[in-house]
Amino acid sequence: ETKIVSVDNHIDNLASYQQAVDILEKGGVVAFPTETVYGLGALATDERAVQQIFAAKGRPSDNPLIVHIGTKEEVENYAIDIPETAQLLMDECWPGPLTLVFHKRPGVIAENVTPGFQTVGIRMPDHPVALALLKQLGAPLAAPSANRSGKPSPTEAGHVYTDLQGRIPMIVDGGRTGVGVESTVLDMTTAPPTILRPGGLTREKIESIIGPVNAESNTPGGEAPRAPGMKYAHYAPESPLFVIELNKELIRNAVASLHTEGKKVAVICPDEFAHGEADWYFSFGTLHDKDAMAANLYHAIRKCDETDADVILATETDVHGVGAAVMNRLNKAADGKRFK
Ligand code: TXA
Ligand code: MG
Repeated sequence: ETKIVSVDNHIDNLASYQQAVDILEKGGVVAFPTETVYGLGALATDERAVQQIFAAKGRPSDNPLIVHIGTKEEVENYAIDIPETAQLLMDECWPGPLTLVFHKRPGVIAENVTPGFQTVGIRMPDHPVALALLKQLGAPLAAPSANRSGKPSPTEAGHVYTDLQGRIPMIVDGGRTGVGVESTVLDMTTAPPTILRPGGLTREKIESIIGPVNAESNTPGGEAPRAPGMKYAHYAPESPLFVIELNKELIRNAVASLHTEGKKVAVICPDEFAHGEADWYFSFGTLHDKDAMAANLYHAIRKCDETDADVILATETDVHGVGAAVMNRLNKAADGKRFK
């Protein structure tokens, strides 16, 4: 059975955290909130514990996990050759939605955290519950997103429960996550550094601190992505999803034409667009608020899965700021499909 333990900032949660710590110290897994999405954690130094993450998620075992730490200083324990630019990023952006990939210090982190890799991805999450858990545990947590492989990442405890009930012993419920898309993965072993996965921390922010970086192209047929997670079909809703231009007339016509084919339609769009003939509307938040779009994206996709829509239409945004991460995830969910 999967136990859900609620924590908040207004009560003394030590006893709740201790339950999670007890499970983790015995080599079990626990789901917990971060500022991006919920993670499924296990002791990063315990190979058998880490193996349970792959088993619970149904995750391909060649896909490396991110190591979560509770203090910046710990990075030295697990990584070597940390460049000056990384120090600047850690000073400014940690805790926060930025995973830095370094050469790994041999023999500390369990082999199956970074299967076949000489590198390790590390981040310090910016969430009071994640930080309290890491502090009370006093050890690093390997943690991927706490969804079944191929499902959208969980942004609330209920999503974790839907995907992993009966497969994990505990979910620490800290409410809805704030950022809503996963961390930016930045490879610090290349010169200049390379964004392997766009995420919650924007490229513009990174470049304002350390200057120009490369971005891995994830276009189909492009260079093989080096963040192995990027090659899997991710975030796929149960019905086909099409990205559509943010244009009221275009959306109205699309819904009408799908209806003449006898199809039921769910539309994910800003509040200002959520009126009309579609069978369901789910919100991206206020028009032109990309942070809200990121925060609502996975929730909205999961809501569509609860309907019997035959087609999902989701409005697009530009790729500036967190729009890069939103459109990366949306294009994956759509498998590149656009409604024209
Ligand atoms: O926001 C997040 O990053 C969340 C929360 C829980 O921290 N975690 C997360 O983990 O999204 P996961 O496992 O779903 O995605 C990790 C991504 C994958 O694309 C993986 O391939 C990449 O990071 N990655 C991890 N370690 C790497 C490494 N050493 N080299 C290259 N890519 C790495
Ligand atoms: Mg994931």
